[in-house]
Parts: sequence; C-alpha cells; structure tokens
Amino acid sequence: MGLRFANPVGLAAGLDKNAEYIDALAALGFGFLEVGTVTPRAQPGNPRPRLFRLPEREALINRLGFNNVGLDAFLANVRRARWKGVLGINIGRNADTPPERAIDDYEAGLRAVYPYASYVTLNVSSPNTKGLRTLQQGDQIELLLRRLSGVREELSSNGRRKPLVLKVAPDLADAEIEAIADAVLRHGIEGLIATNTSTSREGVEGLRHAGEAGGLSGAPIRARATRVLAQFARLLGGRVALIGCGGILSREDAREKIAAGAALVQLYTGLIYRGPGLVSECVSAFRAR
Ligand code: FNR
Repeated sequence: MGLRFANPVGLAAGLDKNAEYIDALAALGFGFLEVGTVTPRAQPGNPRPRLFRLPEREALINRLGFNNVGLDAFLANVRRARWKGVLGINIGRNADTPPERAIDDYEAGLRAVYPYASYVTLNVSSPNTKGLRTLQQGDQIELLLRRLSGVREELSSNGRRKPLVLKVAPDLADAEIEAIADAVLRHGIEGLIATNTSTSREGVEGLRHAGEAGGLSGAPIRARATRVLAQFARLLGGRVALIGCGGILSREDAREKIAAGAALVQLYTGLIYRGPGLVSECVSAFRAR
C-alpha cells in the first residue's frame, strides 16, 4: 500500500467508532489502528440490547448498526489525537440513505476523511445496515469502485495519494469473490480486508444468544474468514495487500492468516477475550516467519 507500519498487527474497525481513543489504543502496541465505521451524518444505531457475548465459544454477536457521531465530530476527534502511526478510516452509509444513493455517502465520506487518513476502508460488508452488503455484488461493486477510484484520482492530484481498502464479508460465494477480485484489480484498489462479521451461526448453534440477529465474530468465524482470505490471495496474490481479520485469538491464529496470504492482521473479538497481551503475541507470529 506504500505505507510503513510500526508492526503488522492492527485494531479492526468498530471498536473505536468515533475515533475517541486513538492515543490510548495506540499505547496497547498496535502497528496500525482502523477507526470508524463513520457515516456522513450522526446516527444512534439500533436499539439496545445490540451486543451479546457467547463466552463458551469466545464469540460475539453485534447489531450495533453504525452508531456514530457523524463525519464532522469524528474528524474533530481525529484532529485532537497525537499519534503519528498508520490510521485507517473506515467509511459507510447512513441507515436512512436510500440504497440507490449509497455511493453518494461513500463519496462524501472519502472526500471528508481523505486528508486525515493513512488509508480509507470502504465497508461494504456490515450485516447491520439493510442492503449494505448488496454493494459486494458484481455490478454494484463495479459502480462503487469506479466512482471512488475516480474521486481518489481527483483528491490525489494536488497532494499525497492515499490507498483505498475494501472490506468484505466471510459469507461470499465463489462467484462473488471472483467478481470482487476482478473489480479490485481493474480499479487499482490497494488493499482488501478479509473479513467482517458473519451472518452464519455455524459453530454456535444452541448457545445462549446464538439466535440474536447481527454479525458473528470471534473463534467460530476464524476458519471461514481464512478460507475467503486464501481465495482472494489466489486471485490477487502480490498485487493487493491482504489484511487478515476474523477469529484471531492466539499467535497460531495469526500464523494461519499469514500462511493464507495476509501481510497484516487485525484484531477485535480476540482483544475482548484475551486482552491486550494478544497484540504482542500476534506481532511475534510475524517475526517467526
Ligand atoms: C465490528 N466490526 C466492524 N467492522 C467494520 O468494518 N465497521 C464497524 O463499525 C464494525 N463494528 C463492529 C462492532 C463490533 C462489536 C464487532 C465485534 C465487530 C467487525 C470487525 O472489525 C471484524 O471485522 C470482525 O469482528 C471479525 O474479527 P474478530 O472480531 O473475529 O477478530
């Protein structure tokens, strides 16, 4: 992506949705932080309860629904941070934006965050905003990436060119993966995060809270997320930076992502169950290569 990372272990999006804790999170030893998802306008997200622990499987189900303060307040927080490391900003659309105007929200997000981000992630894979994931489908991903890569050209004409990163779901079919990989290459997208949370409940059936709506994260999605990562590695190998995410709870899990083609990894649920020691543990997985 043309960036220098202090180490290859990052914080995944959605833990610091409003960019309020950049300096504190950086102090945990992450090599990069991804903040957001931020939407153009502030919105409350879904009613509570909306976040559930499934401790028996070291998993979470969340349906937060992009609760966030909106671009203006978000960027005021980013400006206050002192940290100088790699900062990814993850953008999405408002829940009440009609799906046919979705791309306008991403364009507004890209324009606003561009000066502040080391890279910008296009989140087209959250299960908690109705219709959002349809942006992963062939014609839609093509339209999204065409528009945003064009806007990026415009924005980089009088300054630094910032990498674009696409974040995908673990629930994609083979044909969808091929269409996405094709569009990513054609539009010069520099990075891909595999993956977001899953709508599947495989591995948690019968557990308390397993029937809650939302995205499943943590140990039960690890293998599926790695499979999707490996498929993208085969299609994009070497040409796009791959970021492995989903179910990393140990050094061994990080090694699995590296073996599947990840240049970087991101943590969320593992941090909840294992604590900040997981960061340096995962950094050591890269050293042993
Ligand atoms: C998330 N995730 C997420 N992803 C994203 O792109 N934007 C977001 O706002 C959020 N919000 C969010 C909230 C909560 C409570 C969780 C648990 C997750 C997804 C997250 O970044 C990551 O892709 C998945 O959770 C898979 O990784 P883990 O958690 O299994 O390590």
